Amino acid sequence: MPNQLFMTKPHSVLLEELRGEHRLRRVLGPVQLSSLGVGAIIGTGIFVLVGIAAHDRTGPALMLSFVAAGVTCIFAALCYAEFASMVPVAGSAYTYAYATLGELFAWIIGWDLILEYAVASSTVAHGWSHYFQDLLVFFNVRLPHVVTNAPFDFDPTSGRLALTGTWFDLPAIFIAALVTVILVKGIKESASFNAAIVILKVAIVFFVIGLGAHYVNPANWRPFAPFGLTGLSLFGHTLMGKTGPAGEPVGMLAGAAIVFFAYIGFDAVSTHAEEARNPSRDVPIGIMVSLMLCTVLYIAMAAVLTGMVPYSRINIDAPVSDAFRQVGLPWAQLLVSVGAVAGITSVLLVMMLSQPRIFLAMARDGLLPPGFFAAVHERFRTPWKSTILTGACVATMAAFLPLRILAELVNIGTLLAFVIVCAAVLIMRRIHPEVHRPFRVPFSPITPVLGILCCLILMFSLPAENWLRLAVWLVVGLTIYFTYGRKHSRLAASQKFNQPVTEPAPASVDLRTRG
Ligand code: ALA
Repeated sequence: MPNQLFMTKPHSVLLEELRGEHRLRRVLGPVQLSSLGVGAIIGTGIFVLVGIAAHDRTGPALMLSFVAAGVTCIFAALCYAEFASMVPVAGSAYTYAYATLGELFAWIIGWDLILEYAVASSTVAHGWSHYFQDLLVFFNVRLPHVVTNAPFDFDPTSGRLALTGTWFDLPAIFIAALVTVILVKGIKESASFNAAIVILKVAIVFFVIGLGAHYVNPANWRPFAPFGLTGLSLFGHTLMGKTGPAGEPVGMLAGAAIVFFAYIGFDAVSTHAEEARNPSRDVPIGIMVSLMLCTVLYIAMAAVLTGMVPYSRINIDAPVSDAFRQVGLPWAQLLVSVGAVAGITSVLLVMMLSQPRIFLAMARDGLLPPGFFAAVHERFRTPWKSTILTGACVATMAAFLPLRILAELVNIGTLLAFVIVCAAVLIMRRIHPEVHRPFRVPFSPITPVLGILCCLILMFSLPAENWLRLAVWLVVGLTIYFTYGRKHSRLAASQKFNQPVTEPAPASVDLRTRG
């Protein structure tokens, strides 16, 4: 048994699988991959979570939080890029872990990626709901209060969970259902629609920065860091900085741990490696270009937002559009809300498209039941069963769980995935130095080690209960692995009978995002 747990999928097998018949079509170039990245990155993080972060944890030091989270992601992205160039198959960090750290770690990371994609989708659906409701107000439409939010939420003044007087978040359910239907039918026809949304979203960000800059009052940037510049704790014991009402760390780093969410998505580019025309070159380009662009835009946007409105008056539901209301520009508020709703929708599309791909990669390896997770719809050629399952989970979580708790859970899970990817680069360099790496992380081992350290710092800057939630999540995952995955692993079976690992034979899957 111990051997199977650490059995790695040989690099040659991964490359062999690439030549199999049931692969995705190679249609994406560097521009499409970068725009896919931007499409997945700019969303609820910058349009919604900045409010909570600035209001409760950072004040104007939010700008530095974006620098800290951005630098952390750049270290991790460089590691992703090395893997993506070396192992250009679908499945992202899951596949990289299978090639380097063994089956058990691959499972852990695959399970962890559910937090990054499915749970993140719920958070994004929540954010969508906030801006959608903001938009409805312009048309004098108000939904009944009971269907506007999750039934409970974190109350920052008492530091406790409190009832919100609502039943569930109806708009969040609506958007999750709509995206599910689109994904089941296949969205390849809507390639230009996707590209248009990305352009609109980036244009709105430029608009916020350009117009908002004229309304900045530098006095709002003082004090610059009312909560301090740190915010680090060790399982509930504050190591550096101040603590909030619930004992959670506050300060610039604690804010970085929240706005880290805004960067999630760059690695979605790597889940599309299989559809890249020249994956070894274009996937690293797509990852780095999309991430760097967003980092610069985010820092500028944080500066503008905290300059337009005193941090204590920043709205926590729809902070960006509300900032324009506060400076007396309702038309700009409307424009930002429209852009945010469209932009957040595109994040949801990419995230909910990526989750079934990871399931597909795991099902191909036998770690999940292929009958369900690799099932392809006869007419639409999409993995419809796992897409519907993803949609149902996203809708349920978005309807009933508060945004803040979902976002923190996503962040800790994603940071763990990044730690594993950075470690895997180091391990792979040592055990397989001979493998061709079209893209190499510069200054290794310093860069991956810094990546690991930065991710750990941000993990410790999150409220301590997130570690418990992460542990529970991993225990559930390990139970599934030991009761199902370990017994059905195709790699283990092939090694037992000394047979090559071959593709299962489902009908070909057409998961393309573009025609
Ligand atoms: N980065 C994505 C967002 O902020 C997940 O919505």
